[in-house]
Amino acid sequence: MFKITLPDPSLILLLGASGAGKSTFARRHFQATEIISSDHCRALICDDENNQAVNAEAFALLHHLTQLRLQWNKLTVIDATNLQTAAREPLLKIAQEADISCVALVLNISTVRCVERNRNRIHRVVPDEVIEQHQRELLEARARLPHEGYAALYELSETEIAETRVERIFPLKS
Ligand code: UTP
Ligand code: MG
Repeated sequence: MFKITLPDPSLILLLGASGAGKSTFARRHFQATEIISSDHCRALICDDENNQAVNAEAFALLHHLTQLRLQWNKLTVIDATNLQTAAREPLLKIAQEADISCVALVLNISTVRCVERNRNRIHRVVPDEVIEQHQRELLEARARLPHEGYAALYELSETEIAETRVERIFPLKS
């Protein structure tokens, strides 16, 4: 068993390529209302979770929802690739301003596996090249993460994900 300890409240950034299993992991371990997904934000705006043309609005919505939840001391999980520094920076800032811990959780899955899972999806298939690009970004992100100020940093392999149990701790606030 692989135990992950998360402060509650905290802001949890999932990181991983398309097909790594971020949405699956989020659904397994968190309540639906605790998860803010970039796909869902796109869909809320234009009915199409794949429409990258609404990214600016979708991420503005994602950031706004995050800010509101953290103001209410609510544990929040960001289900987005979070691979680029520019994607993580505003989220880290929102957590810092709300005085809430930020945790990074990397799903480190092989390219072959991500591609295989993507090809088997019905409603959304991401091109192989996009996954390869994500994996290059992930490599870069993993080098940067230890210097970005997370309260905890977890990296899970495929076997560890299957055996993971999430435990929440409730720190006393001074
Ligand atoms: P997800 O849809 O969870 O991946 O899983 P993701 O990281 O969120 O991908 P993006 O970024 O939104 O594109 C992808 C596929 O892999 C299967 C899921 O059922 C889904 O069809 N999957 C996921 C598994 O078969 N096993 C797992 O452990 C995780
Ligand atoms: Mg997803």
